[in-house]
Amino acid sequence: MYTTELEKQRMASAQEDPEKLAEFDARVAADDFIEPKDWMPEAYRKTLIRQISQHAHSEIVGMLPEGNWITRAPSLRRKAVLLAKVQDEGGHGLYLYCAAETLGTSRDEMVEALHSGRAKYSTIFNYPTLTWADIGAIGWLVDGAAIMNQVPLQRTSYGPYARAMVRICKEESFHQRQGFEIMMTLANGTAEQKRMAQDALNRWWWPSLMMFGPPDDNSPNSAQSMRWRIKRETNDEIRQRFVDATVPQAEALGLTVPDADLKWNEAKGGYDFGAIDWEEFYAVVRGEGPVAKERMKARTKAWEDGAWVREAALAHAAKRAQRMAAE
Ligand SMILES: [Fe+2]
Ligand SMILES: [Fe+2]
Repeated sequence: MYTTELEKQRMASAQEDPEKLAEFDARVAADDFIEPKDWMPEAYRKTLIRQISQHAHSEIVGMLPEGNWITRAPSLRRKAVLLAKVQDEGGHGLYLYCAAETLGTSRDEMVEALHSGRAKYSTIFNYPTLTWADIGAIGWLVDGAAIMNQVPLQRTSYGPYARAMVRICKEESFHQRQGFEIMMTLANGTAEQKRMAQDALNRWWWPSLMMFGPPDDNSPNSAQSMRWRIKRETNDEIRQRFVDATVPQAEALGLTVPDADLKWNEAKGGYDFGAIDWEEFYAVVRGEGPVAKERMKARTKAWEDGAWVREAALAHAAKRAQRMAAE
């Protein structure tokens, strides 16, 4: 699938005006931002639409596993914090859908692609949230991994995407800290609470490492995205940075990272870690994640339940336009 996609991109680029292409390449190489009205190769536009909409879908679907726990948060403070966090994720989805729309796609098309299963979203959200400790682990690990992925995107070559990332990254760092604080409370709580925290770490650790995508030698889209400066660092580089930052945090919590091969490597100045189960990753990408069907059902239901709001907003806008025209 990846190869044909890459071939299609190469063919599309081959048909572009060489002069415009050279000018575009030079701008990107000079770290200039590309803006919506600027000329861009079709393959660049398509890659960005795919990446930004996938990112937007991940934010929106990512509201579901935590949304499940809003009614069961253990205190009013935890409820208020979680509510704010889940709302932030909704906001991230909206900025990103808007950024994708500047490339000539529409919100309806993107939503349709998600609901029909054509568009992907982060595999991590197809895992279930079994206990309150999962809310801590998600904030700490999943939002932590999101930050690692997104910080370099603040300098991605497409202006609207880069600018959306600046605000998103600020909010993600709040999300990461609220998750860590939940873990800290549980890890320092009763023996049962500490067991819950450890169990959540055990279940979320490996799926979090998968969030950085396939290994570099098996990620054929990466090279082109690096040349276009859509991507600024490789999957394996960012994954390594995440492991190096997160292992000491697990130690501070008094929890054990579920990896027997995890070991500090003095020579590389980072941790060596065990093999990731890529079979599991690809199975989840194919839609076989533990709660993939529930997630899509919840999304589609929310979309259908909200139809009257969209209709009312459109009717209101039409009436206003009519009134303005009459005046
Ligand atoms: Fe987010
Ligand atoms: Fe977040």
